[in-house]
Amino acid sequence: MVIDTHDWQAFAKRIAACKAQDALDALEHELFGRKAGILTVALKDVGALDPDARRTQAALLNAAKRTLTDAIEAKRKELLSPSQDALASGDSIDITMELPRKERGHLHLIPEFIRSVEEVFGRMGFDVWKGPEIESEDMNFNLLNIPAEHPARDAQDTFWVESSKLKADSSKLVLRTHTSPVQIRYMQSHKPPFRAIFPGKVYRKDADATHSPMFHQFEGLMIGKDINLAHMKSVMITAIRELIDPKAEFRFRTGYFPFVEPGLEVDMRWMGDDAQSREGKWLEIVGCGLVHPNVLENCKIDSKEWQGFAFGFGIERMIMLRNRIPDLRSFYEGDLRFLSQF
Ligand code: PHE
Repeated sequence: MVIDTHDWQAFAKRIAACKAQDALDALEHELFGRKAGILTVALKDVGALDPDARRTQAALLNAAKRTLTDAIEAKRKELLSPSQDALASGDSIDITMELPRKERGHLHLIPEFIRSVEEVFGRMGFDVWKGPEIESEDMNFNLLNIPAEHPARDAQDTFWVESSKLKADSSKLVLRTHTSPVQIRYMQSHKPPFRAIFPGKVYRKDADATHSPMFHQFEGLMIGKDINLAHMKSVMITAIRELIDPKAEFRFRTGYFPFVEPGLEVDMRWMGDDAQSREGKWLEIVGCGLVHPNVLENCKIDSKEWQGFAFGFGIERMIMLRNRIPDLRSFYEGDLRFLSQF
């Protein structure tokens, strides 16, 4: 008669009382360790018994082994998942907690604004077209009725581009000082009637809070039969109200540009936080006028048959007025604290 002298029940209680993973591991090792585990050794010793005793003892030990293995397994699971106590005391994962938002990129406010320009003018039937930023002197000046000695050239503080490929007789290259050369390109390649806008970058030697050496404009051109100043005025007003402010305060005044006759400028009143100190400050946002007959003829369009208007809006100026941004240089500093507000 063999009596299993081990108190397996006591081991089962110790397992149940375990509070931590490493205590459980130690207990498991004490029982099942490969060399000195109590149960491992007891099972090994069974071989030395006589057949009857061996059978009884093996049955007892195997039953104990199953019970204890199950108990360890169950305890291990319990220690891995938070207990009801832990949940109740708040020592757990709060699935309702808000995580910090993932940062998402978005368009810079200039291309974003150009999209709305294209949308607003698209509704008025305007096509969108683009031209190169490096232009010939012809496109940027001559064909726009601005000959070599014309003072308007100085007013634009041109960046000239050096080029070794230039032939002696060909026109010099410039970084375009305005988007008006795209008017020429458009008129040379399209037959009237038409209406289109030409957004893009332009360059001038200029830098202060309201000027930058690179900035954006969008040019507009509408040519047809009997197109007059009233049409132009209504397009200007629609653009200002839709793109800047429906309650915008603006004024038209005469202006001079060699490629239009008559020429007009539109200013808008600055309403930013510093409006008091800038009392009565007006910001010019667009030059416009009826396309000069010389310009039409330069593009082989019969000025007796066709007339129309052109305009050039300053994009940064419009955004400054819309969002009350006092310094134009903020657009280009790449400071996310500024950019992420829009
Ligand atoms: N090109 C002019 C400028 O940049 C603006 C303009 C465009 C004026 C079209 C009249 C007509 O100042």
